Amino acid sequence: MTSLAVDETIARAIEVLKENDHGAYTIPTKGLYPFQWNWDSCLTALGLAHYDEARAWTEIETLFAHQWPDGMVPHIVFHVWSDGYFPGPEVWQTGRPTATSGITQPAVAGFAVRRLFDRAKDKKLASERARALLPKIDAWHRWFYESRDPKGVGLVAIIHPWESGRDNSIDWDDAFERVPTEGVEPYTRRDTLHADPAHRPTREQYDRYLWLVQHFRALGWDNARLHDASPFQIVDPGFNSILIRASSDLADLAEALGEKEIASANRARVEKGLAAMEQLWSEAHGQYLCLDRTTGKLVDSASVGGILPAFAAIPAARVASVATTVERLAGKARFVVPSHDPDDPRFDAKRYWRGPVWLVVNYMIADGLAAAGHGAVARRITQSSLDLITESGFAEYYDPHTGEPLGGGRFTWTAAMVIEFLKGRG
Ligand code: GLC
Repeated sequence: MTSLAVDETIARAIEVLKENDHGAYTIPTKGLYPFQWNWDSCLTALGLAHYDEARAWTEIETLFAHQWPDGMVPHIVFHVWSDGYFPGPEVWQTGRPTATSGITQPAVAGFAVRRLFDRAKDKKLASERARALLPKIDAWHRWFYESRDPKGVGLVAIIHPWESGRDNSIDWDDAFERVPTEGVEPYTRRDTLHADPAHRPTREQYDRYLWLVQHFRALGWDNARLHDASPFQIVDPGFNSILIRASSDLADLAEALGEKEIASANRARVEKGLAAMEQLWSEAHGQYLCLDRTTGKLVDSASVGGILPAFAAIPAARVASVATTVERLAGKARFVVPSHDPDDPRFDAKRYWRGPVWLVVNYMIADGLAAAGHGAVARRITQSSLDLITESGFAEYYDPHTGEPLGGGRFTWTAAMVIEFLKGRG
């Protein structure tokens, strides 16, 4: 891209962010997602910081203002009323002062806050705002290991596919078969009014998503009970790696700010988590796999969730194999990184997390690969990402073969990631 094209693209991305800015939080996109989403906001803050550092801190603070007393940070905060989204507060019934969902999402906050802090031009502002967020993020991390790793193995489980952020991944298919659908209250989906139903999860999957929500609701959203009571318990390598990376970043930040206890608690989580990740390695696939905690078996499904661990400090030999796997995928799809291996018969180039490329995932993988010395593969991912927005605009996700824009348009975190890719870490 010429420098003029870069400036123009950044200006267009900023327009998308501003359009979706609701003052103290940013919605993912108009229509389809009219509230605040957890990991969207944390990654969006990185884009916001390029033109307004104070606003970037506010984005994350708003999310944490709705943290639960037990430490959980919900995946959606329903700041305003809207009948355009399902399932809304009347389904979740979490009883929070401001309505929220009752499940969580990938823990990118620790990573985002450290990056905001490191890059801040206004160091005084950054120290104040980071210091206030530190104990809250630490409480969230503690909550994860207490509630989602009751046996203390060092890895946490998700209990609903939506927690992973990769809602309808092929990774969940087998385990999802065990989730019943009987007794699901009648409902009308709203996502299929805003996007092509062929690009969204199926009706059957939706029934199961809702069965789990009703089940947890019947248990009063008591996190001391939900993990063991869930028929769906998956240890997702991508999800765990994000938590491990965030714990490591939080530890560094805590050290810089003189918070020794937070630093050592998070270092211990990183050490234990990285060691336990080895159980998820698949030599045959050259990547990590999910573990079904209810059966104790690895899930034979080569998804991007097993490539995301490049984001954490996994061993050099592992990250080298993952880099090779990305190169292999680049030979099978025009744009990397597809959310599932195109050789798998279950791959679907257009259906949400069953094949399409997502820029947030690309960002995290490229970041980890670059840090581990795999610059060429990281640049390949960055280039694919920029080619996609040049050809197809700021879409929610993209077909890895054709580059066709899919899902919602004018998407916030896609725009934020483009700014990140173009401005780099400077
Ligand atoms: C979808 C995605 C999830 C994201 C949300 C808002 O549910 O799967 O990862 O957080 O949309 O963009």
